[in-house]
Amino acid sequence: MPQDKIIPFFRPSLTEAEIGEVVACLRSGWLTTGPKAKQFESKFAAAVGAKHAVAVNSCTAALHLAVEALGLHEGMAVLVPSMTFAATAEIVRYQGAIPILVDCDPLTFNLDLADAERKLADLRAGRLPATIPRDLPVVGIIPVHVSGLMMDLHAVHAFAQQHKLWMVEDAAHALPAAWRPNAKHAWQKCGENSSKVTCFSFYANKTITTGEGGMAITDDQAIADRMRMMSLHGLSHDAWDRYSGGKAWDYRIAAPGFKYNMTDLAAAIGIHQLARAEEMRLKRESLARRYCKSFADCDEFELPAWPENRIHAWHLFPIRLRLDKLTLDRNAFLHQLKSRGVGCSVHWRPLHLHPYYAETFGWRADNFPVATPLWERLVSLPLFPDMTDDELNHVVHVVLDICQEKRR
Ligand SMILES: Cc1ncc(COP(=O)(O)O)c(C=O)c1O
Repeated sequence: MPQDKIIPFFRPSLTEAEIGEVVACLRSGWLTTGPKAKQFESKFAAAVGAKHAVAVNSCTAALHLAVEALGLHEGMAVLVPSMTFAATAEIVRYQGAIPILVDCDPLTFNLDLADAERKLADLRAGRLPATIPRDLPVVGIIPVHVSGLMMDLHAVHAFAQQHKLWMVEDAAHALPAAWRPNAKHAWQKCGENSSKVTCFSFYANKTITTGEGGMAITDDQAIADRMRMMSLHGLSHDAWDRYSGGKAWDYRIAAPGFKYNMTDLAAAIGIHQLARAEEMRLKRESLARRYCKSFADCDEFELPAWPENRIHAWHLFPIRLRLDKLTLDRNAFLHQLKSRGVGCSVHWRPLHLHPYYAETFGWRADNFPVATPLWERLVSLPLFPDMTDDELNHVVHVVLDICQEKRR
């Protein structure tokens, strides 16, 4: 591998099938929400085992539509992991409600239900930051399957039921992924028999992509109808219905909705990405296995959790540096990787350490004893289906070199 070669953090895997479908869409003269978006929705619903799928222009939009359809509004609160991307909590704020941030599990980085229980008790006892009223009704929970490693859904459902919460899954990383409580149970796919709504992302670096895009799936007809209507200005029927039904002019505004619909151009890519989702996952899994094997003897960091009862989507490959065994910190480690041609990232600075959440709600670092120190150890290495042997070997070589040079 030449020294000046840069290995990107991610490179999308696109074939002639996606390109041909986009060209066909352009030639068809119908670019916005239409037959391809409908086709993508029905294929997606079938693929994850859901009754309804609503295609939108991002996972953020899908999450927002979900909580809106569930009636979230000001004067309510929702349990949200602190270890997540901006979207999971900001959609709660869009509705004027308050996200109650929850700490994470130290191995999977997924929301820690024991801490959720503690945060609820702290809320009622007035031990949360004073900005959060102690009598605030907590109405929902939004677990995230971080990196594509699913949470124990029986445990989350039981928790939600006990506290009378609805559950919306942020599955931005988790297509395709599956879990089972143990080997005696059948696999349950992410999206199957699950929460009120499950939301997926097709952002450029996600497990399947449409450039920008997302999907909200549900088994609940009324919620699906509300999300569909609100995804297009709250109109009583969408552009394609109006066009194909010949009554383009005759719509009714039923509610002040949003502009979240997915274009046919994006869906044209999605239809073929979806068909290749498992093939691409298998490639990422095989790369992840090779990373694990190559790093097995390395003491300077810990590898991602990979429990047997999970089919991992492997959206990310996050390692946890053992800072006590290294003479450099995480940021310097990232700098070393980048200067040696390896694209990398961090998932994530937890929400409570961002100015908006710290200053608006008064969250402190010590409210999150796991996530606070954990994030300073996190490094996500490149992982994408078309990564070549040379590229993977180069990343392994660079990482091991840094560890050897900077060993304490
Ligand atoms: C956990 C999580 N949720 C939601 C999103 C938002 O997805 P989108 O960019 O499709 O809105 C992301 C994006 O990175 C994410 O990582």
